[in-house]
Amino acid sequence: MSLVNELLSIKYPIIQGGMGNISNAQLAAAVSNAGGLGTIGCGTMSPNQVETIITETKEMTVYPFAINIPINVSPYTEELIQLVIRHKVPVVSLSAGNPAPYIDLLHEHSIKVIAIVASVKHAKKAEEAGADILVAEGFEAAGINSNLELTTFTLIPQICKHVSIPVVAAGGIGDGHGLAAALMLGASGVQLGTRLIATKEAPFHSVYKNRLIEAGDNETVILGRSVGQVRRVLKSPYAKQIIDLEQQGLSAEQYRQMTSEDYHINGALLGDENNGFMNSGQIAGLIDDLPSVKELLDGMMNDALTVMKERLHVFTWPSEKS
Ligand SMILES: Cc1cc2nc3c(=O)[nH]c(=O)nc-3n(C[C@H](O)[C@H](O)[C@H](O)COP(=O)(O)O)c2cc1C
Repeated sequence: MSLVNELLSIKYPIIQGGMGNISNAQLAAAVSNAGGLGTIGCGTMSPNQVETIITETKEMTVYPFAINIPINVSPYTEELIQLVIRHKVPVVSLSAGNPAPYIDLLHEHSIKVIAIVASVKHAKKAEEAGADILVAEGFEAAGINSNLELTTFTLIPQICKHVSIPVVAAGGIGDGHGLAAALMLGASGVQLGTRLIATKEAPFHSVYKNRLIEAGDNETVILGRSVGQVRRVLKSPYAKQIIDLEQQGLSAEQYRQMTSEDYHINGALLGDENNGFMNSGQIAGLIDDLPSVKELLDGMMNDALTVMKERLHVFTWPSEKS
């Protein structure tokens, strides 16, 4: 079995999911310093903006980190590929598009490639194209999701059955139980998004963090089904406005405009729930504290080890006892 942490030279099999435009060097470095794989999410940022964050991250950690490029979302995919090669960033995760055209080039520069997928078909294609690791993301996850709406619990074992490269589970994982469950389903590690927002180092507005800490199990909503561009966010006045407009026939272009990075920044960084949205996964209901990233990752690993030892128990029938 290939171990994702050995492949990536990280201590724990825990990856920070890319968070385009809003996460920063401090969070990526905190995850890498805590033993996971920190990630700089490019979103729609320019190569210059990303380069600044790469330089800052290198100053804050000596451990490996990744760059996430959402292929069809970023207007600068080609330039960003050149940027990561120039900076010798050790890992690139490619989402929201076909990773195949970039994999050989990245490998030529000894850069590991993670492909984000949400179906068996795309998992097989990414493996054939040469991806080193797959992140399989279920519909529970925060942010842009696949229209197929497959859940993590069903997706992971099906993808693991059809590919032989390591699979990392994303969507709905927030503690050691989730980590253990993902490993038991066949995953080699987990990718976290929502849980990392409610951490001390995360650069997000306190309104966003507090909404996650106070959230119940039914606090997220799906935007964009009517236009085929699905995104999971926290319920809010702005999210309701979009859903109401969808019912009145909002066009795909209007939807794209209303969910652009400006409105993401309004919600996540400025805490404005009337004029912006906050990505969140369904696991928000489990979050009730604001740990440091190190406390979170150490706690998840300890709890996963404990539950894996304790949970699988065979009862000895009295007749079997001597
Ligand atoms: C604020 C935020 C922004 C995100 N932006 C991106 C992104 O730019 N690219 C990407 O591939 N995934 C993005 N995601 C998804 C995460 O990388 C991760 O796969 C997902 O959050 C995992 O599910 P979870 O939220 O249930 O932990 C984002 C998630 C959040 C919470």
